[in-house]
Amino acid sequence: METIRSLAGRWEVGEDGGLVSLAKAVEVEMATKDGKKHVPHASFEFECEGLEGMTLREIAQHGEGKGAELLGEYIECACSGVMACSTCHVIVDPAWIEKVGYPEVAEQDMLDLAYEPCDTSRLGCQVALRDELQGMVISIPEATHNLMDHIPFPDK
Ligand code: FES
Repeated sequence: METIRSLAGRWEVGEDGGLVSLAKAVEVEMATKDGKKHVPHASFEFECEGLEGMTLREIAQHGEGKGAELLGEYIECACSGVMACSTCHVIVDPAWIEKVGYPEVAEQDMLDLAYEPCDTSRLGCQVALRDELQGMVISIPEATHNLMDHIPFPDK
């Protein structure tokens, strides 16, 4: 993992140019071909923290501590926060949605394309920490739709 980080991106701020995700995807693909069975989905809880003003995406990509590392493993944030991918889709606990706030039109448009959105869905790149959000509870959907996968980049 450290080798991958040092090969691309600004490793000092936690960026890897997507290589870690790519390496994990290849690892999973190879394990599937080797006949490894899928273990039924199991959920678990973890805590993470960030500074006021940081979005969930920023914590996932640049935060410190085990919680931020786990968040980074579970929300990809493929578009780096410009509301073009929906891979940062999170579901806010209904008890917290009034404090967190509902998405604006542009965010809602992207959420409509996310994997199984619900009434309390938000994009992690649009939810910034505020003091009154201490203790906020979110869950992470079991899958994502990465709309960045459908952008036809020209061949060189
Ligand atoms: S990081 Fe892509 S929509 Fe939030």
